[in-house]
Amino acid sequence: MGSKELASASSRRTFIKSSTLAGGALAAAAFMSKAHAAGGDTIKIGWIGCGSRGAGAAKNALLADKNVKIVAVGDAFQDRLDSHLAALKKDAKVGEKVDCPPERQFVGFDAYKKVIDSDVDVVLLTTPPGFRPEHIRYAIEKGKHVFAEKPVAVDGPGIRTVLAAVEAAKAKKLSIVSGLCWRYDAGTSDLSKYIADGNLGDVHAIQTCYNTQDLWSFPRKDGWSDTEYQMRNWLYYTWLSGDHIVEQNVHNLDRAALFMKGEYPTKITSLGGRQTRTEEQFGHIFDHFATVFEYANGGRVFSYCRQQKGTDSENRDIIFGTKGRAEWGWSESVVTGEKPTTIKNNLSKAYQTEHDVLFESIRKGEPVNNGDYMCKSTLMGIAGRMAAYTGKALTWEQALNSQEDTMPKNLAFGKLEFPPVAKPGFTKFM
Ligand SMILES: NC(=O)c1ccc[n+]([C@@H]2O[C@H](COP(=O)([O-])OP(=O)(O)OC[C@H]3O[C@@H](n4cnc5c(N)ncnc54)[C@H](O)[C@@H]3O)[C@@H](O)[C@H]2O)c1
Repeated sequence: MGSKELASASSRRTFIKSSTLAGGALAAAAFMSKAHAAGGDTIKIGWIGCGSRGAGAAKNALLADKNVKIVAVGDAFQDRLDSHLAALKKDAKVGEKVDCPPERQFVGFDAYKKVIDSDVDVVLLTTPPGFRPEHIRYAIEKGKHVFAEKPVAVDGPGIRTVLAAVEAAKAKKLSIVSGLCWRYDAGTSDLSKYIADGNLGDVHAIQTCYNTQDLWSFPRKDGWSDTEYQMRNWLYYTWLSGDHIVEQNVHNLDRAALFMKGEYPTKITSLGGRQTRTEEQFGHIFDHFATVFEYANGGRVFSYCRQQKGTDSENRDIIFGTKGRAEWGWSESVVTGEKPTTIKNNLSKAYQTEHDVLFESIRKGEPVNNGDYMCKSTLMGIAGRMAAYTGKALTWEQALNSQEDTMPKNLAFGKLEFPPVAKPGFTKFM
């Protein structure tokens, strides 16, 4: 085994160990896929959502196994499909593994069904998250392994759809790997194990922040309907992104769940608003949130996230234990107190490892299912948003059972109402 394989095997082992701690252990090797056990036959990939992260995920998937091909692609928009598919085909490392003739390129709202029905083994789901629940549901119904980018839903009904699909995947012995990439980072995983082994004592609080600048937006072009305009600018609409507390901050909420040893909160209080990003081009989402998650054991997670131009950027977790504290940062974690240590992180490798794990699981017939934490960590963000929008404290069960279905009815390209900005104290919890 060369050093690259050794390193990759080591990061996979670290992941498997930490996933056990997080309650997401690999299932027993009860299932042996006849189709792929030999490793000689081609694993066929369908790719749905040809955007920037999707292009990265597609390349990672193609690098994860010698004998894989992307054989079908789908996107809501022709130009997105064309540009990202052309770029992937030209890629010196993986271009020859792209085998998508025009008859296996699909555009429109039903493109996902056509990709999934194209005799593929595994699908990469990388559209805006509002569509993810239905895409996951249909993929599992049709017996496909899934890579699902984060977050996996934007509202309570979406979470319940994904939870049901996760159970169906377990019964069908299908893999679901989540794009919550930090779980696949060897350093982050090692820190979670260090904490779980008691080196910080009892963890009673975590402060986490994901503060960034403003992000991209696309001016409206002639011919774009309301629906197209919102979808092209999906970050700024709750029905598509869940707001940035879900879309972006889910990474931090998921790490908090990992460091809290897989525990999830019982009560959520949040405040937020829209101070600087108030123009129409920024839809109706907030630009900052401050959220308190309370736990059954008395522990708390304090989460801050902000997207405001000209403000300080920071992505950091501070984990407070009775014997010390750990500061997780983008490139390393530093533990101080009774058992100090420093652990390096490497995100770019994590993006590859998540696909290495997925394809290895398919080859070995040992399904991986990240469903539990990907749903619950997404729900933390949704709960925080609903608590901030309404100004009401929520229980975990209220959030999970929320009846607020944000997906527009009978979605089609055409006129589409622009959702109002939420007003705490006036916006009702549903
Ligand atoms: N894990 C990470 O670090 C990370 C980083 C960036 C983005 N993401 C996630 O990846 C997802 C995609 O983000 P992105 O930055 O690539 O966005 P993007 O806008 O670049 O790409 C999304 C693509 O999906 C297409 N699309 C929209 N609706 C569709 C539908 N109904 N059916 C098929 N295609 C549809 C769009 O046309 C676009 O090409 C999001 O969930 C985002 O949160 C994860």
